[in-house]
Amino acid sequence: MSTVNIAIDGPAGAGKSTIAKMVSAKLGYIYVDTGALYRTIALFITENSIADEDIEKSLEKADVSLKFIDGAQRVFLGDRDVSDVIRTPEISMAASRTSAIPAVRKYLFGTQQKIAAENNVIMDGRDIGTVVLPNADVKIFLTASAEERANRRYKELSEKPNCPAYQEILDDIIKRDYQDMHRETAPLKQADDAVLVDTTTLNLEQSADEIVRIITEKTGGAV
Ligand code: DC
Repeated sequence: MSTVNIAIDGPAGAGKSTIAKMVSAKLGYIYVDTGALYRTIALFITENSIADEDIEKSLEKADVSLKFIDGAQRVFLGDRDVSDVIRTPEISMAASRTSAIPAVRKYLFGTQQKIAAENNVIMDGRDIGTVVLPNADVKIFLTASAEERANRRYKELSEKPNCPAYQEILDDIIKRDYQDMHRETAPLKQADDAVLVDTTTLNLEQSADEIVRIITEKTGGAV
């Protein structure tokens, strides 16, 4: 039986994971957050102080896997659940650098393809529609202005201690966008056959509804 694969790509902070989770709950699909895989490799490299020239050969020791517990994705490094510790700003920036390394992308490619071959998935990332699942049934490119993305992040962080200044958040977003869009291997870009959804003026519910509408239209309501 063939599976249904939905690809959602877009820049950091566009709301991909929150929106993709809402859509997958509505459709009963598994939500796969591929950024967590890159973050876990970044954590592995950081914790083990692996030098750039040793990254490729060290990957065979990085035992990264995804598990779905009550429908929610958890990411493991060996048998340690690292799903929460990979969410720091340091690991965000390190993941953006690490993900530019072709050997790292190659290492994670099979993991992502296997999950999509075995399950109905909504998979989010940067190169899902262009590289990982070029034959996805539906491709969405989800974006919002850098200022709006920084605003949302600032609101989220302002409830926590040590909230960075808005300008720092915006600078980080612009820097990550640049890195993700200008790397040589699998850069962030809209696939030719992806539908653009700009959430700058949409709230989460409206964004999720719009994506469900596109999926239903493209799959002829077969989902
Ligand atoms: O979606 P995220 O912010 O958790 O992703 C972390 C980093 O991983 C991001 O800077 C780009 C990279 N990434 C990637 O290159 N390809 C993917 N499919 C997913 C994430």
